[in-house]
Amino acid sequence: MERKTVILGVTGGIAAYKAADLASRLVQKGYTVKVVMTKAATRFVAPLTFQTLTGQPVVVDMFAAPPVWNVAHVAYAEAADVVLIAPATADIIAKLAHGFADDMLTTTVLATQAPVVLAPAMNSNMYLNPAVRENLGLLRARGFYIVEPETGRLACGASGPGRLAPPEAILEAVERVLRGAQDLAGWRVLVTAGPTREPLDPVRFLSNRSTGKMGYALASVAARRGANVTLISGPTSLEAPPSVKRVEVTSAEEMCAQVLAHLPEATALVMAAAVADWRPRAFSPEKIKKEGRETLRLELERTPDILAEVAERKRAEQVVVGFAAESSHLAERAREKLVRKRLDFIVANDITRSDAGFASDSNQVQIIWPDGRVEELPLLTKEEVAAAIWDRVLRVKKENQPPSAN
Ligand code: CTP
Repeated sequence: MERKTVILGVTGGIAAYKAADLASRLVQKGYTVKVVMTKAATRFVAPLTFQTLTGQPVVVDMFAAPPVWNVAHVAYAEAADVVLIAPATADIIAKLAHGFADDMLTTTVLATQAPVVLAPAMNSNMYLNPAVRENLGLLRARGFYIVEPETGRLACGASGPGRLAPPEAILEAVERVLRGAQDLAGWRVLVTAGPTREPLDPVRFLSNRSTGKMGYALASVAARRGANVTLISGPTSLEAPPSVKRVEVTSAEEMCAQVLAHLPEATALVMAAAVADWRPRAFSPEKIKKEGRETLRLELERTPDILAEVAERKRAEQVVVGFAAESSHLAERAREKLVRKRLDFIVANDITRSDAGFASDSNQVQIIWPDGRVEELPLLTKEEVAAAIWDRVLRVKKENQPPSAN
């Protein structure tokens, strides 16, 4: 197999020492690793460290490189299968967002056709500063892949977001980018999954049989394809997929609030959650006792219809997809929901089949379009169904895009 080349850009933050570990891990994984450092980075770690770990020359100054190596600024840009900048300081993020090319690293990024992965690390106030947020937004929109920093104790003593993501997450992102189509890069997607629970008293709730598998598969596939994924999940026993931001909720009301809070920045929303439609009208703060009762009458009221709320607020270019779990008249009922909830398309499944729907690893769905078209997909794994759904979301998004936008 051909060895892939990773250009590792190291910029001047205290986390620069962690880049040595990344370089070493990448070499151990069989990549050719060529390190480009900014001048500031060399104040934190000596180029010799990277040279020794990678067995390759380290470039800092594009004019001072020894002539035996072909380090014309575009040589590295052309050699790259992927460019990884870790740590990425606020400074490099600003320079890249605005197209600066004043050293070897910025020049390489500007000249390369390869995908670029950035792992920011900085003080939390800097990271949260609107200038940095906007610059990252610009880069994301251009298809840069951002490995979000962690929240934790920072070198300056403060605690908050800004600590370089763990090496596993960074390497995962690099490998994902190398593996293939990053056709959702620059997207922010919102996926809901799992059941909701509607409390009755401190020990009881109403819920349903959803396990969350379909929604988790959607989140994981989108993350692998480069999207920045927020997964709003009801209670499940599943682990959050790598690189996915999970927001845990319990009731339909909480799920609704989280979906609406994240909606403005979402490129697309896929509502795979099995939201409970009814909740007890009154919550009993005391456990309901059975003494003196032969029957118990529960009064239920409607929960918010999340997709109906979304339909009121969504922007025209946002793609919204729903699911319809039906036990009869599948296509007809799904189409009615599609229209009522103003969806771009709806994914319908027959929950009476044992190899599809709840708790199963496979699913057999129909995709129903506003113009009445029905696409019947074969029995697929939930991951394959997820990929098929994202392919269609991508198509809808391209069709929705005004011709002037790129
Ligand atoms: N949904 C929602 N909010 C609810 C209920 C459902 O946003 N309170 C979403 C689901 O996530 C799904 C779609 O609406 O994407 C259809 O859900 P489904 O339960 O099949 O339809 P309902 O509108 O609840 O209608 P019914 O239960 O009567 O079939």
